[in-house]
Amino acid sequence: MSKKILVLNGSPRLKGNTATLSDQLVAGAREAGAIAEIIYLHGLDIQACDACDACQTGGKGCVIADDMQYIYPKLLSSDAIVIATPVYWYSMTAQMKLCLDRWYALESGQDFELKGKRLSLLMVYGDKDLYSSGGITVIHTLEGSCRYVGMDFDGIVHGSAMDIGDAEKDPALMGQAHRLGKSLAQPS
Ligand SMILES: Cc1cc2nc3c(=O)[nH]c(=O)nc-3n(C[C@H](O)[C@H](O)[C@H](O)COP(=O)(O)O)c2cc1C
Repeated sequence: MSKKILVLNGSPRLKGNTATLSDQLVAGAREAGAIAEIIYLHGLDIQACDACDACQTGGKGCVIADDMQYIYPKLLSSDAIVIATPVYWYSMTAQMKLCLDRWYALESGQDFELKGKRLSLLMVYGDKDLYSSGGITVIHTLEGSCRYVGMDFDGIVHGSAMDIGDAEKDPALMGQAHRLGKSLAQPS
C-alpha cells in the first residue's frame, strides 16, 4: 500500500524557499511510490484555538467552523506529516502555529489521534545556522509535542536561505529534501 504524506506549508510565500523544498520532498516521495499532497496554510481560514474545550467534552471534535475542518481528515488519513516552515522571529510562522494549536482537538479520546504517525520537519531561515536563526526552537517545540502525543519525530531537513530562489541554488539542501521524501515513502 502506498504511503500517504501530507505536507503543511506555513510560509506566506507561495513560491518561496519552503515551497521549493516542499516540491522537492513531494517529488522524492512520489518517485518512491507515495501519495503526497501539500497544503498551503497561508490564506486559509484557520482561527486561533479559543480553549472552549468543546472538543474535550462534546465528543464531536473541534466545533470551530473554518478550514481546519478540511485539514483534520487529511491529517487523520496520512501516514506521515511534514511541518514545512520558515523561521519567523526565532520560531515557526504564525500560520503554522495556529494550525498546530488546533491539533488539541485530536486529543479528546483515550489516545491522541495522530499517535504513532511520523512527523518530519522542513525548515529554512535567513541566518547562517540552526542556532543563530532560532530554528533550534522549532525543533525543540516539535520534539516536545511529539513526545507528549506519541508521534514519531523523525527526519529533519533545514538550511539557510533568505531570498526567494536561494534554496534552489543549494543542491545539497535540495537533495536532502528529496531524500527525506523518499524515506517517508518507505514501509515502516
Ligand atoms: C517576518 C519575518 C521574520 C523572520 N524571522 C527570522 C528569524 O527569526 N531568523 C531567521 O534566521 N530568519 C528569519 N526570517 C527570514 C526567513 O526565514 C527567510 O527569508 C526564509 O527563506 C523565508 O522562507 P520562505 O521563502 O519559504 O518564505 C524572517 C523573515 C520574515 C519575513
